Amino acid sequence: MTRASLDKQPHEVASMFDDVAARYDLTNDVLSLGQARLWRRAVARAVNARPGERVLDLAAGTGTSALPYAEDGAYTVACDFSLGMLREGRHRNPQLPFVAGDGTRLPFADGTFDAVTNSFGLRNFQDVDLALAELLRVTKPGGRVVICEFSQPVWKPFRTVYTEYLMRALPPLARTVCSNPDAYVYLAESVRSWPDQPALAGRLQHAGWQRVAWRNLSGGIVALHRGHRAD
Ligand SMILES: C[S@@+](CC[C@H](N)C(=O)[O-])C[C@H]1O[C@@H](n2cnc3c(N)ncnc32)[C@H](O)[C@@H]1O
Repeated sequence: MTRASLDKQPHEVASMFDDVAARYDLTNDVLSLGQARLWRRAVARAVNARPGERVLDLAAGTGTSALPYAEDGAYTVACDFSLGMLREGRHRNPQLPFVAGDGTRLPFADGTFDAVTNSFGLRNFQDVDLALAELLRVTKPGGRVVICEFSQPVWKPFRTVYTEYLMRALPPLARTVCSNPDAYVYLAESVRSWPDQPALAGRLQHAGWQRVAWRNLSGGIVALHRGHRAD
């Protein structure tokens, strides 16, 4: 297998992330032209984790996305189904509890977490609606979700330039830093075929999340969706 195809067979997705785990964080910084760190700060503000809370970071990869919630004092569980990413994460962030688990069948009881979150993971799920429902199940009544995912730039001329970057510049750039550049062809294609802001909000509502809203980052390259579980 060279890259996960867009039908997103879970074993292919997991194996693709196993392959890129060692250079994953570095590659992110390079390909996002430094924006990834700003996006992560915005997600941390949106999650607003507090001491004593339990937070689930689903599809946490190497744990980079989970660190801010732990630093804010919450008991933070980093869950992912790529053993390669988890291994790299345990090495880099030994202070975090890493759990191997599939986001469509989470190994947690109902109502475990005050907040559940997912950064740049959902796009890779084979069954997004099932994952959104699972996240709702493991959230306490009154708890919250924050989804950070690539989205659609809202200003049309910028959208055109960005799509060109994704499809033409990103794969060659990936070749210079990444061990499996094909994974970044998949990245470009999966971003292009991902639902836009209103469509993802609709999927969250359909899964049962309430008071769903979103905020664009970097002109809509990334969107932060949030919602609440009913009390
Ligand atoms: C792009 S990485 C994001 C990692 C991290 N959240 C971050 O922001 O750097 C996507 C992650 O989603 C994970 N993933 C994809 N499908 C999954 C599933 N069904 N269950 C659990 N993890 C999944 C992959 O293994 C991968 O580590």
